[in-house]
Amino acid sequence: MDADNIEAKDLFEVIGTRRSIRYYQTWRPVEDEKIQMILEAARRATHAANAGATGAVVVTRDEIDDSDLSATLPANLQLQLAPVLIFWYGDISAWEQQGEKLKELMKVYALNTTHGWSEKLIDDLIVPFTKAQGDETNWLMTALDAGAAIAQAQLMATRLGLGTCMNQWAGNPGILGLPETCKVFWIMTLGYPAESMEAGGQRPRRPFSDLFHRGKYGTPFPESDEAVAEMRERRLLQREAPLPWRAAEVRALAHMFGLPE
Ligand SMILES: Cc1cc2nc3c(=O)[nH]c(=O)nc-3n(C[C@H](O)[C@H](O)[C@H](O)COP(=O)(O)O)c2cc1C
Repeated sequence: MDADNIEAKDLFEVIGTRRSIRYYQTWRPVEDEKIQMILEAARRATHAANAGATGAVVVTRDEIDDSDLSATLPANLQLQLAPVLIFWYGDISAWEQQGEKLKELMKVYALNTTHGWSEKLIDDLIVPFTKAQGDETNWLMTALDAGAAIAQAQLMATRLGLGTCMNQWAGNPGILGLPETCKVFWIMTLGYPAESMEAGGQRPRRPFSDLFHRGKYGTPFPESDEAVAEMRERRLLQREAPLPWRAAEVRALAHMFGLPE
């Protein structure tokens, strides 16, 4: 497997380098081995009870009709440009095995009596509690499960020199052959970026102090200047968008792909 395009190495740098990439090298396929590593990174994410509620169907762009992508937001042109589409789905039926999976975690000493775990607790309390929660809450848990998996998949893709973007899809999951217990959450586009990995800089976010609190909501979690300096040094924090040449880069990309400017 070629190792070109691999820029980010350290985890700090991988997190800092990931961007939503919307221009792809349409002509360059993604190696199956890299896709496998991306999927494995997702499988290694923390999952509720390790029940296995998150999965994905990988489709190359030439294996899917334009009409099957039409139930998406109009601005999601990246679906046309990306050589690979990964349909991340949740499977609500996975929770039927929750008890069994928790017992498996006990057998490997991940869940222990030190913390009050027992087969009786699982059978009498945990499994009935999950059932009683109902589908709406269990779908929420399934979506969180998928989110953790997708985040790891995106970081692995970045580490391998690939770009990703999440995309809304309200198409017919029937085309994927998924069982009725499954729901496609979102499509992840995947491919070698046609834009630079920096993609014009890190995108704007709400301030840290608005989002993270100490003790209670409204008391910002304190930020240390040294931590900020280290994160800059290790490239978790990078130059912010828009970099001076970004508008010109977008114009060049528009020209290359024949897109409106
Ligand atoms: C759940 C989710 C759904 C998203 N849906 C879309 C989408 O439909 N179309 C799109 O262009 N970007 C979508 N995005 C990408 C975000 O808009 C993106 O995070 C933002 O453009 C820039 O931030 P980033 O480059 O740091 O990722 C989605 C992201 C997430 C996590």
